[in-house]
Amino acid sequence: MSQPSPLPTSDTTRSDTLKGFHLARSVESDRLLQLTFPRETVEAFLDAAAEWPMQALEYKSFLRFRVAKTLDDLCGNTLQPVLINTMVDRNTGGFMVTPEGLDDVEQADDMVKFATAVAHLMGRSNFDAMSGQYYARFVVQNVDTSDSYLRQPHRVMELHNDGTFVEQDTDYVLMMKIDEQNMQGGNTLLLHLDDWEELDTFSRHPLAHRQMRWTAPPSKNIAQDVFHPVFDVDTEGRPIMSYIDQFVQPKDFEEGNWLADMSDALEGSQQKVALAVPTGSFVLINNHFWLHSRDRFTPHPNLRRELMRQRGYFTHAKTLRNPRQV
Ligand SMILES: [Fe+2]
Repeated sequence: MSQPSPLPTSDTTRSDTLKGFHLARSVESDRLLQLTFPRETVEAFLDAAAEWPMQALEYKSFLRFRVAKTLDDLCGNTLQPVLINTMVDRNTGGFMVTPEGLDDVEQADDMVKFATAVAHLMGRSNFDAMSGQYYARFVVQNVDTSDSYLRQPHRVMELHNDGTFVEQDTDYVLMMKIDEQNMQGGNTLLLHLDDWEELDTFSRHPLAHRQMRWTAPPSKNIAQDVFHPVFDVDTEGRPIMSYIDQFVQPKDFEEGNWLADMSDALEGSQQKVALAVPTGSFVLINNHFWLHSRDRFTPHPNLRRELMRQRGYFTHAKTLRNPRQV
């Protein structure tokens, strides 16, 4: 595997001014930054945050921001501007984050704590109705009885945005790998909207901005439908998306066939980025202009993958013309 190329220098990413972490372009995509925390930083963070077990972060929301500050202080306060600025930078808007030394499922609580600190330097993670917490851990196994493709190993999960059927703004998505056994395939797939060959065709179509109905299956614990179009524009007038194939409810023949065409155009894109996320690492993306999905796995009787997700809103930037947040 080749080494990632260095970043061009800018005010917040000049490598000689960063402390406690390394930043580079990822091997897989120029748009995705690789943010690596060396073992010293990770250990210093876990020592400093040892007084707050995960239960404390679950019970007291403000402690999520305290662990965020603890991490940023260890990085000489050079981390927060990188996160804030990159997440809203249309040209990038995403990271692979690797805390070195956090790579065993026995360290799962520490993994969640570390991810919480990173997320709360630029946002606040929303309540996740599936878990009843601000994050959700879930397991993918060989046999599944759930009502969506989330946990089904042998299927491609199609490209989508998160938060399509909730009223809350979902500006970012964080997806962490906590454990992986007997897994072949199942890469994370990403598509940046500006790389999608058919963006103009679909974002300029008359149906692009029509209100559509979105419903969640029972496991998501969301009773109410929400209404919004597939496409919106950000504060700069650029197209953004809020779309998921399984939960949109077209009202007629015209909408149904337009959505089916769009699904084919997304899945057929040659611009998808495939990522093998190592255990303990996580992907952090802007949910408005990055779509995500998961490639299929090879069946195995002892297959096990555990993931953790957080979705939330930006606390330092307004990126939507019509925020859903109230
Ligand atoms: Fe998702």
